[in-house]
Amino acid sequence: MYHLFFKLFFQRMDPEKAHHLAFRWIRLAARVPVLRTFVAAVLAPRHKALRVEALGRRMHGPFGLAAGFDKNAVAIDGMTMLGFDHVEIGTVTAQAQPGNPKKRLFRLVPDRALINRMGFNNEGSAAVAARLAARKPVFATTVGVNIGKTKIVPEDAATADYVTSTERLAAHADYLVVNVSSPNTPGLRNLQATDHLRPLLTEVRAAADRTVTDRRVPLLVKIAPDLADADIDAVADLAVELGLDGIIATNTTIARDGLGLNSDPALTAETGGLSGAPVKQRSLEVLRRLYARVGDRITLVGVGGIETAEDAWQRILAGATLVQGYSAFIYEGPFWCRAVHRGLADRLRDSPYATLADAVGAEHKKVTA
Ligand SMILES: Cc1cc2nc3c(=O)[nH]c(=O)nc-3n(C[C@H](O)[C@H](O)[C@H](O)COP(=O)(O)O)c2cc1C
Repeated sequence: MYHLFFKLFFQRMDPEKAHHLAFRWIRLAARVPVLRTFVAAVLAPRHKALRVEALGRRMHGPFGLAAGFDKNAVAIDGMTMLGFDHVEIGTVTAQAQPGNPKKRLFRLVPDRALINRMGFNNEGSAAVAARLAARKPVFATTVGVNIGKTKIVPEDAATADYVTSTERLAAHADYLVVNVSSPNTPGLRNLQATDHLRPLLTEVRAAADRTVTDRRVPLLVKIAPDLADADIDAVADLAVELGLDGIIATNTTIARDGLGLNSDPALTAETGGLSGAPVKQRSLEVLRRLYARVGDRITLVGVGGIETAEDAWQRILAGATLVQGYSAFIYEGPFWCRAVHRGLADRLRDSPYATLADAVGAEHKKVTA
């Protein structure tokens, strides 16, 4: 049904306009109590078996909305209504900025993929903090706040920019994410090098602790799938050393691997980050590598190319406590979360694991004869 609707309607629209339209519908539906309750009952049924504890929070399930969809924190209840167990808002930067010129979002339909070079279009951390402060939540959503660098701020002033956003946003965050992995802000990914990352994460941690004194706000870093294996290990070691709470793997890729023969070369040549099915394999590999390095010491969040319950289950077995998605939501529509939840509950029931927590990283623990 949604596939037909997508083909006849959304696919003929400019992708960014389609996003805004769908987003408006979600927000409107979430504002009408009867409708909201009905939609949530249909699309977000709770499976007791999927309950997880992560980042100091009890969640209904492990599946959340990845950053970039709700950049300004305007639809947290709406996305929860559709079945996302946590919602990561942002990326938010210290200064409001328009992002890159349009067109900046492209659908690669045969590849079930997107290319985006949005460039952190957002209202800035002061406005987003004010919105979060005024918010009267309907659902008990776990809200992640993903922060990045303002484009016009030079690289050597990046830390101060992240600290400003931290001071404004930490109080409203159930967890905070330092995003150093978007390909669409020049120089940003250089911050993944540990000599940059160490002072950045140390300062953000200190700023969060200074600002929020009645609890410890969990801090995570989000990394790119394009990192060399040695660099993944280095980030993993740094995360353990600094007492980070988690790593999110991965953001979009600048590679163009994994595209099918039916891809439109004009689209695949567009500059930006590729997401969806083509990034699946590499995101899984990065996650596996991280878990092999850090084990249970750090919470891993698997994201990148998750389309099905089986994909989500594979991430959990590979070491993810939480999983997230974005691109497949565009292609699969409002019943997507429900299908993932159901499939995950089925897989857990048919597995040797009593709880989802037991399944996390299980592929690494298999005893070989
Ligand atoms: C249009 C678009 C915008 C995005 N914006 C952000 C962002 O602002 N911050 C961020 O950390 N990730 C952003 N992402 C990356 C996603 O959060 C996710 O890491 C990536 O798309 C891989 O997941 P997927 O294959 O399920 O889409 C964006 C992705 C897309 C498609």
